[in-house]
Amino acid sequence: MHNRLDTLLDRTVLLGYGKPGLLLRRTSWEPLAPDALRGRTALITGANSGIGKAMAAGMAELGAEVTLVVRDTERGAAAAADITADTPGATVRVARCDISDLTDVRRFAHELLDHTDRVDILVHNAGVLPRTRAESPQGHEICLATHVLGPLLATELLAPALERSGAGRVILVSSGGMYSQPLPVQDIEYRTGDYHGATAYARTKRIQVALTPKLAERYAAQHISVHSMHPGWVDTPGVATSLPRFRRLTGPLLRTPAEGADTALWLAATEVPPGHFWHDRRIRPEHYLPRTRTSETDREYVWQYCTNAAGFESS
Ligand SMILES: NC(=O)c1ccc[n+]([C@@H]2O[C@H](COP(=O)([O-])OP(=O)(O)OC[C@H]3O[C@@H](n4cnc5c(N)ncnc54)[C@H](OP(=O)(O)O)[C@@H]3O)[C@@H](O)[C@H]2O)c1
Repeated sequence: MHNRLDTLLDRTVLLGYGKPGLLLRRTSWEPLAPDALRGRTALITGANSGIGKAMAAGMAELGAEVTLVVRDTERGAAAAADITADTPGATVRVARCDISDLTDVRRFAHELLDHTDRVDILVHNAGVLPRTRAESPQGHEICLATHVLGPLLATELLAPALERSGAGRVILVSSGGMYSQPLPVQDIEYRTGDYHGATAYARTKRIQVALTPKLAERYAAQHISVHSMHPGWVDTPGVATSLPRFRRLTGPLLRTPAEGADTALWLAATEVPPGHFWHDRRIRPEHYLPRTRTSETDREYVWQYCTNAAGFESS
């Protein structure tokens, strides 16, 4: 698709993030090779439903061995059964981890490293949009803990296994909602002001994107590439529960979970420059609005805060 039409779709948001954007853009995409991920191992958090489950199914279909990293292993097992029913012979495992709980992330990573030598793909997909302010067991605001701190710690602890891949990939599933918020430098834990779940969600999705270049730089020497992406607007159980009105209004414009999973699958299977924010297989801007622009000092401050809170040294 022509660059200018693609950019125009992106800026209209409604068309670009919904199904029409995908349908128009994908006319110019190369299909992924059927065995694009053969021999690779992938971990996907929050993979018992929605986009995470679709990513797991897509990666299994492309030949990867997939582990669904979930907090409810019964639902994880049901998701794994669905995936193997669709792709007979696929290797799909289930591992328990509450990604918002740093103690549980440490336990999960250590147990995994005990029996797994190599990880090729790590997708941080788990997401929450809470109604009221809640905290993780370590006292961090729940969106920050789920979208940022847990993923940072998991990446750090699994880096040796990702390094053994020789071409490890880490993908942060952010959201176009992050465009509405600047980096919350003054109040990273959202302790002040009226709490709105959608704001907490967008702020922490903004942090994911702002820290992507930092993560890419940190792990470059280990040949681990880090990317963030957003799936567009996707009809998932999460949207049905957290945003019922949005779902009613946008109805037929929403993408299917498999369509929302496309860019993450493509990033897992394709060599692209690290440190960027992607949507529909293209690098997208970090900002639309001047008021959300990030100074390098702010980015560094948030990086220091988050690595510290996640429990490891940033340098
Ligand atoms: N749908 C969209 O339009 C859209 C748009 C932009 C970005 N996204 C992003 O896409 C990702 C997937 O969202 P979705 O729409 O597919 O929502 P979903 O159906 O609600 O899936 C979210 C998944 O995250 C899991 N999860 C939440 N907290 C967790 C934790 N602490 N530890 C482990 N797993 C946890 C949930 O597990 P439980 O089943 O145990 O709750 C669930 O499986 C999210 O990061 C979301 O922000 C979605």
